[in-house]
Amino acid sequence: MRHARAAQLRVTTAVTTVLILAAATACGGGGTSSSSAHGGKGSTVGIAMPTKTSLRWIVDGQAMVKQFGAKGYKTDLRYANNDIDTQVSQIHKMIAQGDKLLIISAIDGEALGEVLLEARDAGVKVIAYDRLILASNDVSYYASFDNFKVGQLQAEYIVDKLGLKNGKGPFNIELFAGSPDDNNTQYFYNGSMSILQKYIDKKQLVIGSGQKRITQVNTLRWDPGIAQARMKDILATSYGSQHVDAVLSPYDGITRGIIAALKADGYGTPAKPLPVITGQDAEAASVKLILSGEQSETVYKDNRKLARVAVQMGDAILTGGKPEINDTKQYDNGNKIVPAYLLPPVSVDKTNYKRELIDTGYLTPADLK
Ligand code: GAL
Repeated sequence: MRHARAAQLRVTTAVTTVLILAAATACGGGGTSSSSAHGGKGSTVGIAMPTKTSLRWIVDGQAMVKQFGAKGYKTDLRYANNDIDTQVSQIHKMIAQGDKLLIISAIDGEALGEVLLEARDAGVKVIAYDRLILASNDVSYYASFDNFKVGQLQAEYIVDKLGLKNGKGPFNIELFAGSPDDNNTQYFYNGSMSILQKYIDKKQLVIGSGQKRITQVNTLRWDPGIAQARMKDILATSYGSQHVDAVLSPYDGITRGIIAALKADGYGTPAKPLPVITGQDAEAASVKLILSGEQSETVYKDNRKLARVAVQMGDAILTGGKPEINDTKQYDNGNKIVPAYLLPPVSVDKTNYKRELIDTGYLTPADLK
């Protein structure tokens, strides 16, 4: 009898063990509670950011490391110095070392298709961070801001400051766009032109240089030096005694380059005031220029919130849940429409910087000294 019970117990234990093992295999994990087919808590998230030359990517990276850490993940954060090959090899290494999820802000949106095939083969999911990854099926989600709206905000600021709605003009304007290999560039530019075009048509805005197409006005790698050289050239060849009244600039770094060229040309005095000039990213160096009256506006995108979106998506993917999204239409990457979560951008100038940037803790008063 005792033997019979013992035998029964052994069978029950064996069956239970088999069931546990079967459940663990179904989850694809090694049988510990922290791992699963999706990666699970404790797994490593590879974070590939483009460059440290712009403060914003440092903030993005730090915020994600902190937030993923708080949810029980390890992170592997790398910056590629704006070099495409470096970014590809960093992603390659992340996959090889067993990272379970990749969060990527691409330098060149079209350059990652091949390395992402490796990710797919390894079962590693990919979230495009702020910049959409193009021409690839292997992008699961996109976390960003409403990029078209960013361009609209910049253009609306110019319209407002020049009084274009009251019929004022003509004013001279120059247009700048971002890097041609960044998908956001066309969204910013198209957003801006959706507002500015009608004033160009009515000749309330005149593009002194005549350079209007995105292929003429873009700025490779968002490089301030390239923008500065282009502005310098435009001033020398197209302006003479004419005055530049407004500059559409898509990003604070580019704006700083443009302002440097304008100042070298004598702008920034009562007789030759700086034009209305926009920006993006609310970088401390540029907010200082807003306070000193050199830059007019910037578009603030709270990267801490963007990091939260990416971490929410990543956590859901890694634990077999469903990421929250709010856009399934706008972002076609050439291969598929990538489901996205888009945050709202905010236009900031002297009048609201305190409320938007200081009171929210995005910048401290010391950052602006
Ligand atoms: C864009 C991004 C902007 C700005 C720019 C240059 O992709 O959306 O906010 O940071 O890159 O870094």
